[in-house]
Amino acid sequence: MLSSLILRFGRRDSRLRHTVETVLESVRQRLQAQPLCYGHGTDNAWDEAVAIVLAVSHLPDRKESLREQVSDSQMKDIDSIVEKRVTERLPLPYVLGSCQFMGSTFLVDRGVIIPRSPIGYLLRDWEWITQHEHIASDLKVAKILDLCCGSGCLGILAAKKFKAARVKMIDIDPRAVALSKKNIEKHDLSSRVKVLNRDIRDAPSFLSAADWDLILCNPPYVSVRDMEQLPAEYLHEPEMALAGGLDGLDLFDSIFEISSHLMSPSGVLIGEVGGSQAAFCEKYKTVDLSWPDLYDGGEGVFLLERNALDSHT
Ligand SMILES: C[S@@+](CC[C@H](N)C(=O)[O-])C[C@H]1O[C@@H](n2cnc3c(N)ncnc32)[C@H](O)[C@@H]1O
Repeated sequence: MLSSLILRFGRRDSRLRHTVETVLESVRQRLQAQPLCYGHGTDNAWDEAVAIVLAVSHLPDRKESLREQVSDSQMKDIDSIVEKRVTERLPLPYVLGSCQFMGSTFLVDRGVIIPRSPIGYLLRDWEWITQHEHIASDLKVAKILDLCCGSGCLGILAAKKFKAARVKMIDIDPRAVALSKKNIEKHDLSSRVKVLNRDIRDAPSFLSAADWDLILCNPPYVSVRDMEQLPAEYLHEPEMALAGGLDGLDLFDSIFEISSHLMSPSGVLIGEVGGSQAAFCEKYKTVDLSWPDLYDGGEGVFLLERNALDSHT
């Protein structure tokens, strides 16, 4: 059976050529015609069309690529990717097996959540953050803990940002740990980045020293009510990575306790609570933390210094 893309343009012959530009527009229209939800690395049909066509054609993301030819076999590959995306509502990175996040490529696996946390660009813009937020000016980031690491994306980005730092990542899910190991190798960081298959709630028993300068934590935080309203794309991701109990806050008492035990005196926790921010603010109203401006999208990321935990725990 001919793919619908090929049907759309007619059989390829010497008079009729598909260029990247025409195929992009066709894919965009096809995605746009469906009730798809974006949020796994792109936020609109055009950007997904670009990601699909560039992934198949292996062309660089620049204007000159628009005039390149797309072969018949590439057309078929593009069509089958679009078909999966549209009929199964699979997030695109699960179809492609990888994603772009903060300018780096990460492998993805269907059992592990797809990278997208705004903590990624706070790490990228660390200098700006330290100037504008209450972070100790003498903070030297030598040791980093990534709690609930998933694919390992945040710990790996942090290791790239702080080039001499040692990073430990922890996840309860063996599939996440296996994927993190692959991503650590892919980014050539095995000497500085390690991953453990543990429950973060046990962390104070196996990580004893209070010398972690930066703790990153994007835990499962979706409330029961929000879980019931998730768009189809998110149902392909593991529930364990999303569901945070009744109010989404199941893990936060532990996260504060771990941080108070393990952070260095001028250390900082960057945590994400997303759409459960209102419940979080109500529950932890006495904790002195700040909510940085998320100028590149996302919601509910807080910064917390070690000394702010003294009064809480
Ligand atoms: C929202 S995902 C975040 C993944 C990754 N940090 C990111 O930003 O893409 C949450 C992760 O927490 C893990 N997780 C859930 N409960 C956990 C626990 N008690 N201890 C350790 N990891 C846990 C899940 O397996 C999942 O990979």
